[in-house]
Amino acid sequence: MYVAQPIEWTDRGVVMLDQRRLPAEEISYTYTAYQDVAKAIREMVIRGAPAIGVAAAMGVALGVKNSTAKSLDELRAEFSVILDTLAKTRPTAVDLFWALDRMNRRFTELSTQASDLNKIKSVLIEEAKSVHAEKRATDEAIGHFGAELMPQDGLVMTQCNAGALATGGIGTALGVIQVAVEQGKKIHVLVPETRPYLQGARLTAWELHRSNIPLTLITDNMVGHFLKTGNVGAVVTGADRIAANGDTANKIGTYQIAVLAREHHVPFYIAAPVSTFDLSIPSGEHIPIEERSSAEVTQIQGIRIAPDVRAAHPAFDVTPNRYIAAIFTERGVARAPYGDSLAALAAHAHSASTV
Ligand code: MRU
Repeated sequence: MYVAQPIEWTDRGVVMLDQRRLPAEEISYTYTAYQDVAKAIREMVIRGAPAIGVAAAMGVALGVKNSTAKSLDELRAEFSVILDTLAKTRPTAVDLFWALDRMNRRFTELSTQASDLNKIKSVLIEEAKSVHAEKRATDEAIGHFGAELMPQDGLVMTQCNAGALATGGIGTALGVIQVAVEQGKKIHVLVPETRPYLQGARLTAWELHRSNIPLTLITDNMVGHFLKTGNVGAVVTGADRIAANGDTANKIGTYQIAVLAREHHVPFYIAAPVSTFDLSIPSGEHIPIEERSSAEVTQIQGIRIAPDVRAAHPAFDVTPNRYIAAIFTERGVARAPYGDSLAALAAHAHSASTV
């Protein structure tokens, strides 16, 4: 199986594969300033909720590593600017805030125990690397839980890209498919292109093709047709934020797939790590939805396809919990009522030391 590497910590800096250029070109950049990591997240060099979290953690580590602060107080002041800059990149994926919160907690612990700035720097670099390593382990576990519920033979639909490019591991939704295929299931993936940013056409099709997993690319307006006539066995997508009641934000277009899947009796599954839960909000109405530029709708990779008119671009939508058959996490499978099942998995996360 081919597993893309979207991000890596190196001694030279944070190396990222430019996902905007895929599949045409495989170009990587090495970032040496946290401000550039923030720009890379905002401009979608790296994207996908867990990968954004890894990038944010590495951005914090880079900022601290390069700090010229002479005292702990100076470093503390810089630290809050670093966190703030990275927090203002993309609003919907809660993994970003989870990673920043984790780095902040580690910094607070260290700064109450020691004032050796070099020690603080090296521990924070290790913490960022651990975030990445844990994402890999998390994806594997999600993959194993989810693979059980994939059909033995047949079509599975996904949305957007929830593969290695989106996580830094084997992927969440595509990780489930990868593990199922490794277990011998004969899965053919239906990949909606995912307008306007085309993560399905550009990224998911590229990853599956490289892994030799059979796929058919479809346009977004074919989703209903294939759910009605195509004998689809399951839908599995990733998530950007899951509210306490199970309402789930994911890439725009996911909601209509979930509703149509219900209409045609196709189980609709979410695959996501526990870090995607936001139990501080009771329902999906509280999830902030990123509005991106209308130019991403009126143009495709710089080529104008519409007149210069107003275009809407909410980047995510929210699928109400009633359409979700189950949520695959690294700690097990949550089912309705999600208020109880998600809380139980989150509590388990706090009490366990490793994923
Ligand atoms: O705008 P993007 O490309 O960052 O959106 C990505 C998605 O919506 C993914 O489905 C989600 O982040 C889960 S990735 C494992």
